Amino acid sequence: MPKIETFQDLVLEPRQEGQEIWRWLYTELRSAIIDGRLKIGARLPSTRNLAAQYGVARGTVVAAFEQLQAEGFISSEVSAGTFVAPPPGWETTSHTEQKPSRQLVSRATIGKRTQSLIKTTFFFPVSHSIGKAFRGHEPAIDLFPIELWARIAARVYRKAPRSLYGNGDAGGYGPLRRAIAEYVGHSRGVRCSAEQIIVTSGAQQALDLLARVLLDPGDEVWMEDPGYPGASQAFQNAGASVIPIPVDRDGIDVASGIKSSPAARMVYVTPANQFPLKIVMTGERRVELLSWAARAGAWIIEDEYDAEYRYSGKPVASLHSLDRSGSVIYVGTFTKMLFNALRIGFVVVPERLVKASKIARSFMDRHPPTLDQAVLTEFINEGHFGRHVRKMRQIYSDRSQLLAEEANRRLSGLLDVEHAQSGMSTVAWIKTHVTEMALTRRAEEAGLEVYPISSSVTKYEQKPALMLGFAGCNASEIKRGVSVLEAILSR
Ligand SMILES: Cc1ncc(COP(=O)(O)O)c(C=O)c1O
Repeated sequence: MPKIETFQDLVLEPRQEGQEIWRWLYTELRSAIIDGRLKIGARLPSTRNLAAQYGVARGTVVAAFEQLQAEGFISSEVSAGTFVAPPPGWETTSHTEQKPSRQLVSRATIGKRTQSLIKTTFFFPVSHSIGKAFRGHEPAIDLFPIELWARIAARVYRKAPRSLYGNGDAGGYGPLRRAIAEYVGHSRGVRCSAEQIIVTSGAQQALDLLARVLLDPGDEVWMEDPGYPGASQAFQNAGASVIPIPVDRDGIDVASGIKSSPAARMVYVTPANQFPLKIVMTGERRVELLSWAARAGAWIIEDEYDAEYRYSGKPVASLHSLDRSGSVIYVGTFTKMLFNALRIGFVVVPERLVKASKIARSFMDRHPPTLDQAVLTEFINEGHFGRHVRKMRQIYSDRSQLLAEEANRRLSGLLDVEHAQSGMSTVAWIKTHVTEMALTRRAEEAGLEVYPISSSVTKYEQKPALMLGFAGCNASEIKRGVSVLEAILSR
């Protein structure tokens, strides 16, 4: 890169579309200083002359100069003018001596774990709209009582003591932890004290936190296969070795797990509603899993991400309520029960993990946002949470039934859609020759959101199927979705 002799020779790259003019000028001058085209000590033209030279407003040049000065790239001396200063960290014995100019292209790399993480195709897209058929991870946001929530929020923000605007507890806001302990006790038989509740940013952060607290690099973790990719990613990020264990009609195949990884440190399961096959783990399998974990000294992570929604059949006890050895760690989330953006979930840890979990949490993001937690606490304590969940349970049950009926009527022989007895989504088995991926692509092109089951398979192949969400879709959207599927599949 040639050094320039006068400012007139300085060639600036053209401005990018949408880039502010002052930011463009600042970036270009900064690069010219860093790569040596503008000499240290060189006097810059006045802002008026520079504005005329580049055909921009003088205020624009002033803004660029102010930023350069704030970062130490130029300095101004009253009545002498503005000069190029040595860039911060510039190692030179003489301020006028310049390092050889060179193109600065960073060769710094990202970590190996993240290099493999970014290959994943599994992530939640931004919800530019809501209620779309057949989005799987969204509750009925249009039915959430926003006015009520806003009133409570206004009251909480106004009346909260000033101390709530300071630092909070890494385990979460005390009154919310008490409300959650009471709720999981009566709703899922999870007996715990408020101290054992760690409030997290959704279930995902609970999984990440547990991976940090409990796993060492190389530890083996049993993972349901097919299973929830968000969990396996969290464990892999902690350096663990994820061992895929097949799922049969009773749930995770414990005997197969013992065979492939007898000394596993942890097992992750979704027993109330297996992700994505929707299998409910039987009582016998629960006992088998609990007794293996107690014998092996392994942790069981029980993810009950949507256990509130059970529409028929016998209620299922949580693994946590059956555990006598203290091996089960229970994970729940309000993102599925209320609305996604709330990002509040929780984990129930044994007493001996409370301190470690709080310390690990404090180094991730200190603590959850206190005032949002306070709003949720009021929402629960005033009875609105219970009412909302009961109402949604009826609505989701109706939606599940409608989807099964519509599919039966219009997709028979093409797609076998199960009538979900629980949760927010169901499985649709493909009965024609079209592949899962081709069907997914065509459905997306036609404006639907579907999730191919194979995306959650690691080793044990499944028959071709899609996961279809129904909870967030109203009746007309469900009907529209089914007719789009019919059109695609009849082609
Ligand atoms: C099985 C399972 N666990 C955990 C999560 C993450 O939940 P959250 O959005 O609360 O982080 C999801 C999200 O869909 C899920 O399906």
